[in-house]
Amino acid sequence: MSSELGFAVPCSRRAFLKGVAVTTAATASGALLAACASEKTVAKAKAAQVPVGGAVFVDDWIVAQPKEGTFTAFSNVCPHARGKIDHTEEVNGVQVAVCPKHGSEFSLSDGSVLKGPSRDPLTAAKGVTKNGDSVEVSN
Ligand code: FES
Repeated sequence: MSSELGFAVPCSRRAFLKGVAVTTAATASGALLAACASEKTVAKAKAAQVPVGGAVFVDDWIVAQPKEGTFTAFSNVCPHARGKIDHTEEVNGVQVAVCPKHGSEFSLSDGSVLKGPSRDPLTAAKGVTKNGDSVEVSN
């Protein structure tokens, strides 16, 4: 399930299908509400404060805008040894998320590892929604 969205998606497909499965007697909208109850907003950022090609750090989340109008969000916990990723740096003309503990670098587009020692990508949020002036991260 991707967190890279250029538009509002209120609920993940998996959560929706799970909700449909457990609420067979419910209406479609009731199923949607039941499914989405498992995901909640965990961070909010002002869209205008998320730089194009960069990121902001909100609570335990990295909220990025790799392309104008496309927002992504990842946990700030490094998959290598749980370092707290707290900044970005420009590498070869591109902003990347950097773990200060051992220097792993990650893509702001998809969370993939650009430089180890981490072998695993960042954990993407279940959802990223542009809602008016805000970017809402749900998990
Ligand atoms: S904990 Fe992040 S690179 Fe080791």
